Amino acid sequence: MSLTQDISGQTALVTGGSSGLGQATALRLAEAGVHVVVLGRSQEGLDDTVAAIAAKGGTAKSIRGDLAERGTLEAAVDQVVADAGHLNVLVNNAAVMYMDQASTAARDRWEQMFQINVFALIEGSQAAIRHMREKDVDGHIVNISSLASRLPGGGLYGATKSAIERYADQLRMELENDKIRITTIVPGGFATNLGRDINEQQQAVFQEKIGAQMEGLVPDAEGRTPLFGIPDDIARAVVFAVAQPIYLNVFEMVVRPSKNIDPAAFME
Ligand SMILES: NC(=O)c1ccc[n+]([C@@H]2O[C@H](COP(=O)([O-])OP(=O)(O)OC[C@H]3O[C@@H](n4cnc5c(N)ncnc54)[C@H](OP(=O)(O)O)[C@@H]3O)[C@@H](O)[C@H]2O)c1
Repeated sequence: MSLTQDISGQTALVTGGSSGLGQATALRLAEAGVHVVVLGRSQEGLDDTVAAIAAKGGTAKSIRGDLAERGTLEAAVDQVVADAGHLNVLVNNAAVMYMDQASTAARDRWEQMFQINVFALIEGSQAAIRHMREKDVDGHIVNISSLASRLPGGGLYGATKSAIERYADQLRMELENDKIRITTIVPGGFATNLGRDINEQQQAVFQEKIGAQMEGLVPDAEGRTPLFGIPDDIARAVVFAVAQPIYLNVFEMVVRPSKNIDPAAFME
């Protein structure tokens, strides 16, 4: 018996599909026969994802958009439905991690992070639900949270992730009588570009703490260590969740390498 059901022929929109976990998720969904649309700001990253999917015989498109701008995700969802006829899967994966001090962070920084990580996710989810109901299709919304939502040192970034987890809990309740399931994936440490917005001082603290934890850890052939997994580890979890029968709801999956990152690594 297969552990998952056939999802080929479905359509998925993956935000942040231009790199990291979103790119890996797009590849895995396409491998399962799903038509994938990836959204992000980097045209190069989007093109890489679309080309990698096409090279394996899958179908993919990209939409260039900035989730810092209100209305971007709703318009993207509308576009996917207009082009493909329906949307079955929305993976709300795009996010930024600004680890500024919660007590002093500049308003434009935390406002932007909440816009990208939280408000765009709500906007996109509402648009997806509207279309899923109208087209009467099986739907899955998968939100990528973070262990930063529940560990000390998660900062305002952790607060954005707590917010999306509670939003998902609420949606799940409201959609009990719909054919739409809501899954929260909670990753631990995975090697991606997520740290690109951390300032130099924080990078130095991070490198020092992580360096000590990394000592003696040998990466496997695909680059995993017991401290940092690879994006495909999360991609497989997403596909597992969306390929369950619609009568089931995979509420939440905490997926992390065997060793946990020292939370102090995130503090200045
Ligand atoms: N890596 C980890 O250890 C880890 C752990 C816990 C949770 N997560 C979560 O995993 C998710 C994916 O992150 P990642 O680790 O794969 O990092 P990443 O490689 O930096 O990917 C983030 C993605 O979000 C997109 N994005 C960021 N700002 C955007 C904006 N304004 N508009 C549109 N797209 C935007 C980026 O695309 P462009 O640059 O092309 O815009 C990129 O594709 C995030 O939700 C993150 O919080 C990651």
